[in-house]
This record gives sequence, C-alpha cells and structure tokens, in this order.
Amino acid sequence: MKDLFDFGKKIDDYAVMGNPISHSKSPSIHTLFAEQTDQSILYTAIHVDVGGFKQAVGNFAAAGGKGLNITVPFKQEAWALVTERSERAERAGAVNTIKIEDEQLFGDNTDGVGLVNDLTVNHSIELEGKDILLMGAGGAARGVLIPLLKQNPASLFIANRTPDKAKDLADDFADAGNISGGGYDAIAELKFDVVINATAASLQGDLPPLPETLLNDNASCYDMMYSAKPTHFMRWAKEHNAAKVLDGLGMLVEQAAESFHIWRGVRPETKTVIEKLRKELLA
Ligand code: ATR
Repeated sequence: MKDLFDFGKKIDDYAVMGNPISHSKSPSIHTLFAEQTDQSILYTAIHVDVGGFKQAVGNFAAAGGKGLNITVPFKQEAWALVTERSERAERAGAVNTIKIEDEQLFGDNTDGVGLVNDLTVNHSIELEGKDILLMGAGGAARGVLIPLLKQNPASLFIANRTPDKAKDLADDFADAGNISGGGYDAIAELKFDVVINATAASLQGDLPPLPETLLNDNASCYDMMYSAKPTHFMRWAKEHNAAKVLDGLGMLVEQAAESFHIWRGVRPETKTVIEKLRKELLA
C-alpha cells in the first residue's frame, strides 16, 4: 500500500477471485508478503458471479493484471480456462494460481505444496516412508495428492464416506505411488503415522467415523480447515494422544507463498505471517 502514492514506481495488479470472497485472507497475506520483500503490488479480492468467471478473468487480464488466485467455486473452471498447466495442476484437475504473461494464462496449483511445506518445514513432520491417511475424495483431496506422493510415503490410503469415490481417485493416481482407497470400514484394522482431514465435515461441525485404534505412536493429525476453536477432528486427535495436532492456517499461508514465488520470483518468509493471522483469528 505504501507505494500507492509513489508515482515513479510501477504497481502490478493481483487479485483473488471467488464466491463468496469477502472473508478471504489472501489480500492481507499477499500485502504482508509484498511489504516484506519490497515488491510493488496491489492485491485485491474480486467477487465473481457464477457464470461470469471467464469474463472476469478476461477483464482482469485486459486491464494489465499480472496474476490471480482462484478459490471456491472456480478452481475447476480456471483449470479449463488456462492456456498452460503445471503437472501438479494438470493432475489436480484444479487451478488456484494463474500467472498472466504475454496474453497467456499459466495455471498452477499450490495447495498441495502448501500442505507439504507446512507439515515438513514448519512442523518437522517427515512424510517419507510413513503411512498416510487422507480423509475425503473431493477437490480438496485430489488437489494435494501429487505433492504428498512426491514425498515418497510408504503408503497413502484415501478414506471416504462414499467408498467408490475414494477407490476411483486412488486408481487415477496409481502411477504416482503406493495409493489405495475405500470406505471408513476399510481402515478398521489399519494404523497411520499421519492423518489428514480433507473432508468438508469440519465445516459442518461433523467428524468422519474413525476407529479408536487408528493412530500409531507419535502420529500427526492435520485438519485442512482452520477456525478459532479446534475442529471436531482436532479434538478427536488430542483425545487419541496424537503427538501433533494441527489446523490448516499454515497451509493457507504456504500455498500463498508458493503463488507469490511463481509471480514475483521471490520467496517470502511465512512464520511471522502465520503468527499474525493466528493472533487475529484468536482475537
Ligand atoms: P472439496 O472441494 O472441499 O473437497 P467436495 O468436492 O464437495 O468439496 O468434497 C467434500 C468431501 O468431504 C467429500 O469427500 C465428502 O464425502 P462424500 O464424497 O461421501 O460426499 C466429504 N464429506 C463431506 N461431509 C462429510 C461428513 N459429514 N463426513 C465425512 N465426510 C464428509
């Protein structure tokens, strides 16, 4: 913002598009990144009507905009719209980051790397050689599969309320690692080192049906949702003696940092930004 009145300096436009969008934390996060790295950008939130996504992106690009974050419900539409995709975006079937250059739209998906960086860098949770359970088989789960499998876990099981969706998703990614899927009954006898909740259950104040014996010693539990209070799944994890119980606030900031890096070529520091958001969340 400080550069708004520095007329000598060119300011590049970025935005997040979604519906709803008013509660998005992306403008605050990217403004903090820009201040920290001394980048002249203006990052706004744009509410887009359903049916108006293509037009909105076209308008933004025509006005000279440099990049976009895309959130619910437009990530799949963004995937279809871009002119080029990263491998992880291609496989995710969803795009959350667009870089606009020479009238081309490059689409990427930074959600999975955001999750992996939060787990492995911020919380020192090793994924290589571990047994991972991913709960949920919707867009949120699909979006993180390639970066998770690139960590070489011993196994990755997708559990879902509708078992066939988990099986189909696992089949789609069978070439990328030791992955399988099924219903919650299929995990009755299994134990995991890392359990990730990618369902919408926490949004509804609900919890997938988990067996009491699910966690190995020293297990980590991660809810991709975040809120001021621990989610049902986080409370369950604490009650079942998980060594680490985490929410998705760090993932939110890490996926933003990866987008920022794609756009600006510099990697912002995330720790202080996560701490600031945590304070605001709890205030
Ligand atoms: P998203 O893009 O957030 O992944 P989605 O594609 O609608 O949203 O997927 C939501 C996921 O949460 C699905 O895996 C869904 O299970 P079903 O496929 O059986 O519908 C899961 N989910 C939603 N509510 C749930 C609940 N109360 N308990 C368990 N799983 C739930």
